[in-house]
Amino acid sequence: ILTSDPITISQIEAIARQKLSDNVYNYYSCGADDQTTLERNQADFDRWGFSISIVSKIRPLIILVLPRVLRDVSQVDTSTELFGYRFPFPVGVAPSAMQRLASPEGELDVARAAASMGINLTLSSNSTTSLEDVMSARHQIGKETAAPFWFQIYLASDLDLSVPLIKRAEEAGYEALVLTVDTPVLGNRINERQTPLILPEGLHLANIQKNGAKGSRKPSFNREIMDARTAKQANDLMQAAGSTANSASLTWSSTIKFLRQTTDMKIILKGIMAPEDAQLAVECGTDAIIVSNHGGRQLDGVPSTIQALPGIVDVAKGKIPIILDGGIRRGSDVFKALALGADFVLVGRPALWGLAFNGREGVEAVMNILERELSRTMALAGTAKVGDICSAFLRYTEGGRL
Ligand code: FNR
Repeated sequence: ILTSDPITISQIEAIARQKLSDNVYNYYSCGADDQTTLERNQADFDRWGFSISIVSKIRPLIILVLPRVLRDVSQVDTSTELFGYRFPFPVGVAPSAMQRLASPEGELDVARAAASMGINLTLSSNSTTSLEDVMSARHQIGKETAAPFWFQIYLASDLDLSVPLIKRAEEAGYEALVLTVDTPVLGNRINERQTPLILPEGLHLANIQKNGAKGSRKPSFNREIMDARTAKQANDLMQAAGSTANSASLTWSSTIKFLRQTTDMKIILKGIMAPEDAQLAVECGTDAIIVSNHGGRQLDGVPSTIQALPGIVDVAKGKIPIILDGGIRRGSDVFKALALGADFVLVGRPALWGLAFNGREGVEAVMNILERELSRTMALAGTAKVGDICSAFLRYTEGGRL
């Protein structure tokens, strides 16, 4: 049901769907290939993991919050601390490219919403507003309320070419550099390929290209690679783009060292799914990891992030902060992620739906809904503090006895 005063994220998405053109909606909403992982990310907050029963049938496990009662929840406090900063609630905005496709002010409106609510935001390096302008929007709202902003980057294969952008982010006042590590090549996004998205006149990738200037890498570069009919053709295109293409040759040993030498910002790796990689991230001294499958847009068929989380918690909990994104649409999803060991979560598409629905106010509406739902879930589950949310509140069942 469409309403002018939506009260859930899914209602806001329905409005955004109506407002956006097919090619923009498809670009924002789609996952890769058969979109199995995209679907899993959301569904697994209810249907988490699988158990093999004695008769060898694979049955879905249902994840349930088991509420406790009579525990004084008159003062629910959703705030949480990360890197020494107290956030009003444990949800930030994930980096997503080209937000001016959703509304004219795009990234500026997301920044204004985040700054006014004290929410953490990560700006995509592929934004349609420059990182400096986004930071000015944050300052205009007022430094008292604004939370730290982070900057997301893809490294070029010639690492030195990435240095100026990293320095600009540091200079502008971004607190952390979020290196996305799940994109050595772009995932195969079918919907996006079938309704190609071309940046309209007047929009450009503002951190990477000067307005109107000819760069060695066109904004359509990623699409051309995605559309290459043979692997050789794709390789040739990457070669032709040379050192300016996103690097597919990064390794653990060189990458973190390079970033540490280049910047004093905190270093966060985004796109960790395997416990072994979480272990390496801890050993290499990264400041935090983001458990993410890029919202199901990269390798299809990988686990949902909520399913991958416990294995990562086993190796990294208490050593570095564990952040999760993918499929979070309700406050109870945030509760479940925290109960399974995440310290903080991010939302990608919900912010875009909010932006398309009603600019800055739409993003604020999305974040208010999540905060309110988390607070209500905490009260109903019987926990008044974020730090008390733990696995004792969860049960798994095949549908029978808990
Ligand atoms: C993304 N994401 C992404 N990630 C990144 O590191 N750099 C980027 O530029 C983008 N761009 C981008 C565009 C769009 C349209 C989407 C939907 C996503 C991935 C994003 O940061 C995040 O991992 C997912 O969006 C999280 O999943 P949900 O919350 O969208 O389900």
